[in-house]
Formats: sequence, C-alpha cells, structure tokens
Amino acid sequence: MRHFLADDDLSSAEQLAILDLADALKTTPYRLDSFAGPRTVAVLFDKPSTRTRISFETAIAELGGHPMIMDTAISQLGRGESIGDTARVLSRHVAAIVWRTSGQERLQDMADNAQVPVINGLTDQYHPCQALADLQTIREQKHQLAGLTLAYVGDGANNMAHSYLLAGSLAGMHVRIGAPAAFQPDPEIVNRAQHLASSSGGSVQLLHEAKEAVLDADVVATDTWISMGQEHSRRDREAIFMPYAVTTALLDLADREAIVLHCLPAYRGKEIDAAVIDGPQSAVWEEAENRRHVQKALLSFLDEQAEVA
Ligand code: CP
Ligand code: NVA
Repeated sequence: MRHFLADDDLSSAEQLAILDLADALKTTPYRLDSFAGPRTVAVLFDKPSTRTRISFETAIAELGGHPMIMDTAISQLGRGESIGDTARVLSRHVAAIVWRTSGQERLQDMADNAQVPVINGLTDQYHPCQALADLQTIREQKHQLAGLTLAYVGDGANNMAHSYLLAGSLAGMHVRIGAPAAFQPDPEIVNRAQHLASSSGGSVQLLHEAKEAVLDADVVATDTWISMGQEHSRRDREAIFMPYAVTTALLDLADREAIVLHCLPAYRGKEIDAAVIDGPQSAVWEEAENRRHVQKALLSFLDEQAEVA
C-alpha cells in the first residue's frame, strides 16, 4: 500500500506527474471522479486547522467522494484507543485516511495498520501536502522548478523547513535554510535531502543568516515562529527569530522577480511584514488555493496505486 507520510514517499517523476495533474484539475476541476459512489475519505485532526480541512473537504467532494471530517478529541482515539485499532476500523469504512497529528511515529503506526492509503495532513516533522501546493505555485509563477533557488527563513527545525528540504530537492531546486544555530533542521532529514539533490541536480545549503539565505533567491518562504504545540515557549522564540522576519528590506536582497510564500496562518509584524504578505510579490492566496488542486491529484494518484496493489 502506498502512503504519503513524508515528501520523499514520492519519486521525482511521481511528484512531477502529480503537479501536472494538479494543473489540469485547476483548469478543469471535475475531470476526475475517483471517489464517485460516493466513497468516503476520513480527515482526522488532532490539531487545529483552517486550510487543510477546507481544502481536503472540497477536494474530496469535487472528486465525487464523501469527506468525513473528525476532530479526534471527541473520538475514542482522543481518550486512548490504540492507533492500530482505529486504523483497522477506519479501513473497513473509508477509501483513504488523512491525519493531522503530532509525532511522525503516530502517523507511521496508522499507516502500518491501515489497509487504505494514509496521507500526512501535517505532523511535527513534515507538511508534505503544503509543500506540493507550494511547488505548484512556484511553477505557475516561474514556469520551472529545477534550478530555482528557494530560501526559507525562520524556524529551520519545523515541519515546513523539513518539507521544503525534501520536496525542493526532489524537484531539483536549490534549497537554502536561514535559521538560528539552535533551530537548524534535523540532520537525518538534511542527509535525505542532500541525497535526493545529488540525483536531481538540486542542492541544500544550511545558513545562519537570513540575509545570506535570501540573496538573489527566486522564492522567499517563511512560516510562523511558534508551531502548534510550542505555545509555551512563545516569548523566547519571538526574541530569537526576530532577525529572521521577512521585511521589505530583506525581500529587496532577493531576485527582483522573487515571489513570497507562506503556508499560513501568518502573523503580520512577526515572521512577515504586512507590506510583504499583502504586497505585489506575495503568492500566498494562490498557494492556499492550490492545496485543493494538488490534494485532488494526490488522492487520485494514491487511490490508483491502491487499486493496482
Ligand atoms: N497551511 C495550513 O496547513 O493551514 P491550516 O493549519 O489552517 O490547515
Ligand atoms: N509550522 C506550522 C505550520 C502550520 C500550517 C505549525 O506546525 O503550526
């Protein structure tokens, strides 16, 4: 059974095929009815969400399926039923499972016990659906991915940084992370990204200065400094990350035609200035919309793979 637990669960060719299909689905949204019946897709949330819920719910409906959205806090999973038993029961009812949770090992446990594809709707380690939407957005704006430089500044140890490293490397991009020394990415993920980059023609650079990271970059990306579950360390983190804010002055160091991405939710005046996110170089609304298109492509791809398995 194929799952999508991390960005590198796809090959470069599969990633490209999904992006092509996502573009086609953006132009003609009802060309596929992969989940007609309707077959049900479960979308489970251990953490809050706006975009992931909206985009999966609409994506599944547009594919002819029935989205079953569940807040796990009011399920038996939330009061201690095992992930394995939940996976076994879900597999008797649904065609795929999307799950937003904390530790990657929880998602792995779900996949190990499910008989249907499992998709990562965000974990502490990765946000691979978001990275796919970001690649679709970059390609729309820049007409290529391979060879472009993507600079991510801020918390280099969070899910978005890790997904940019893997998804960008798979696509042949030059990925730069500009983050404080104590918030550099997980070395194991960096190794995987470097390995992917060595065959795709991309590269990985870990830097400590935001200015150095964004210099002449084609894409400047950032994310909240306080990811879900880190609220207790808000004050310390804000002080540490302040020099990594995407201001107009920082953006001026990037390529003149650079675009700005942010997965949202954004905190204006913290990791990104209002003038940047609401300015002419921002592609964040397109990026938010592309979640639906790319997730439709991903769901159809995994469903096809499950049928042939
Ligand atoms: N970008 C993203 O995943 O947003 P939500 O947390 O609102 O789903
Ligand atoms: N890094 C953020 C992404 C939110 C979509 C978080 O995990 O909260």
